Amino acid sequence: MEKVLLKNHGKPDAHRISSYLASGGYKALAAALSMRPDNIIQMVKDSGLRGRGGAGFSTGLKWSFIPKDPTLQKYLCCNADEGEPGTFKDRGIIDHDPHLLLEGMIITSYAIGATRSYIYIRGEFDFGAKRLEEAIKEAHAKGYLGKNIMGSGFDHEMYVHRGYGAYICGEETALLESIEGFRAQPRKKPPFPALAGLYGKPTVINNVETLSCIPGIIENGSEWFKKIGPEKSPGPKIYCVSGHVKKPGLYELPMGTTARELIYGHCGGMLHENKPLKAFIPGGVSAPMLAPQDIDTPLDFDSLAAKGSMLGSGAVIVMDNSTCMVRTAYIINRFFSHESCGKCTPCREGTYWLDRIYERILRGEGTAHDLELLEKVPQQIMGLVLCALGDFACNPVLSTVRQFREEYEQYIGLAEPVAAEA
Ligand SMILES: Cc1cc2nc3c(=O)[nH]c(=O)nc-3n(C[C@H](O)[C@H](O)[C@H](O)COP(=O)(O)O)c2cc1C
Ligand code: SF4
Repeated sequence: MEKVLLKNHGKPDAHRISSYLASGGYKALAAALSMRPDNIIQMVKDSGLRGRGGAGFSTGLKWSFIPKDPTLQKYLCCNADEGEPGTFKDRGIIDHDPHLLLEGMIITSYAIGATRSYIYIRGEFDFGAKRLEEAIKEAHAKGYLGKNIMGSGFDHEMYVHRGYGAYICGEETALLESIEGFRAQPRKKPPFPALAGLYGKPTVINNVETLSCIPGIIENGSEWFKKIGPEKSPGPKIYCVSGHVKKPGLYELPMGTTARELIYGHCGGMLHENKPLKAFIPGGVSAPMLAPQDIDTPLDFDSLAAKGSMLGSGAVIVMDNSTCMVRTAYIINRFFSHESCGKCTPCREGTYWLDRIYERILRGEGTAHDLELLEKVPQQIMGLVLCALGDFACNPVLSTVRQFREEYEQYIGLAEPVAAEA
């Protein structure tokens, strides 16, 4: 597949507007400004683009929920918080090709009638934040931002807003609270941001990778986009691969590439020939783990959901047979208990108690009752909380207890320990 999102990576000064223009950049914006906003929304709907931030919601449909009333202030927020462990695709775009994101954002803003947009970037991404600020200045100087963009009559200003260093800031309504200057805690929905978002005004929130797909759709058409990958989850996808593979990194491939092609083909296989695959996480640590028998699963929204997991952010974490699944689940749970914003009791208390159970088991003091609790506590969290973090926290616990039960039993003396792998 010809690269779409990472096509400019590796070119000299790829982050500069001169380099972006030389590779055909901002042509899609010129084309979009000559179209009716409604037609752009329809085109994005027809392309089948689904949000790359995790939930996989139709992008065009989300935009269509924004009220058409021209007297209402509307906003676009780009979610560049990228806090999911294992995920590093958005910073790849921001650091190396910021104008691709900017162009996608200006087109989106025009389509939904937003005169202001914010890029909410993870606080730790200092380099990326500066890159974006420079790119915004360059776009202003060329007339792609500001008043009467390219003579279209459309005005737009864009701001970089640095995040506050917590995973929950990436949840869309917590992100809005954070921009407004409040503590980043999710809001109750409804109302949804499309009707009452930033400062109570209609707002679209999209991920960096989602918005970076927009210039390509405008330039090449929705049919072109639809032909890449599976019919129901089309388009290019950046997979972030880490863990026990020879060549970890960012891979832009058609959505629906199988885990086998990714791990054994593009990533060169397992890191050590004598240490085979034990498990992989297909979509960041919040996704349920999969076992070697799932290696032929296409990495797209629907195929992974059918396997009881999820594509999430597209972060594929590969583990070989030297990995202790109990300790891995504990480390992940500790992350979630630390990052729980504390607003809902089941998430705040449940993740805390899961931590304590894991610590008992890992100290060799666990019992069969603890193993039962690892399955019962999630039932008191999942679906009973305000945002998906609670469910995310339960996924690694349940998927490891169910698929790697024997390892838990070894810790609590119910099964014979196996000899350590060479
Ligand atoms: C706890 C939590 C953290 C999240 N973190 C991110 C994030 O870092 N980046 C992101 O794009 N979406 C994140 N999301 C998903 C957003 O809430 C939202 O669905 C997404 O930004 C929408 O963009 P999309 O439609 O382009 O996918 C997170 C969700 C939850 C529940
Ligand atoms: S589920 Fe957890 S992170 Fe989400 S709002 Fe409730 S306490 Fe906060």
